[in-house]
Amino acid sequence: MRREQEPAGTVKLFPRSDASASFDGEQERAMTVEFYEFRCFEDNFGLLAHDRASGATVALDAPEAGPIFAALAEKGWTLTDIWLTHHHYDHIDAVGELKARFPQARVVGARKDIHRLPPLDRAVGEGDILPLGASSAVALETPGHTLGHLAYYFEDDDAVVVGDTLFSLGCGRVMEGTMPMMHQTLMRLAGLPGETLVFCGHEYTAANARFAATVDPENPLLAERIREVTDLRARGEFTLPTTIARERETNPFLRAANPQVQKALGLEFADPVEVFTILRERKNRF
Ligand SMILES: [Fe+2]
Repeated sequence: MRREQEPAGTVKLFPRSDASASFDGEQERAMTVEFYEFRCFEDNFGLLAHDRASGATVALDAPEAGPIFAALAEKGWTLTDIWLTHHHYDHIDAVGELKARFPQARVVGARKDIHRLPPLDRAVGEGDILPLGASSAVALETPGHTLGHLAYYFEDDDAVVVGDTLFSLGCGRVMEGTMPMMHQTLMRLAGLPGETLVFCGHEYTAANARFAATVDPENPLLAERIREVTDLRARGEFTLPTTIARERETNPFLRAANPQVQKALGLEFADPVEVFTILRERKNRF
């Protein structure tokens, strides 16, 4: 479902600054929503999405109030919505402070986790449409890291916010769900259009790259990505957002069915769920 008319505004695929990065102003793709990514805590990302037509602005997760207030002030945006991916404290901690300053902001989270999320104005589940002014996203249930985990897919803007499910070159720990559940969630995200921008909850890419190199050593695209990640981090820049296409090519957790990955693990012709399970367990000990 595409809009008839795409307002001016574009996204840049890779950010420049470690302090923040706005996906706007480059002649690469038209977007109705502007995404603004910035650092919170040690390695969490704060993320704002701003509907250009209406001015509506959502905080995707609420890790830390100070950087979110600073980002809103810098952009001149007013917070209208807060959408939560999951109940871990480093994704919800700032909800109270955000609501105190922006009492009209509507808090959205998973119906399945309503008992352990901050008070919600709207509880949602699979397929629910979330309006953001004239734009919208759809909630995708993405269990595995936690049972109630949600991703928010901005289909018209080719972007998905995945919390702690998919990371660049890695994936979240399977803390509540099962390995088959997490594998299914990741395969579903991998099935989104390749150009989809992926906004993850953490800057874990360099550590993930070190592990990925041990289980997919013959992959030239992974080697290229590792060089890029090393350069970006050396310059203090973000490695995110990534794209679905890039992760399909380089992320070992999306490549459990790949013969090269299976060979490196000594698991040729194994069931991809079994390969994924071994990858995740190895990474836990890495
Ligand atoms: Fe988490």
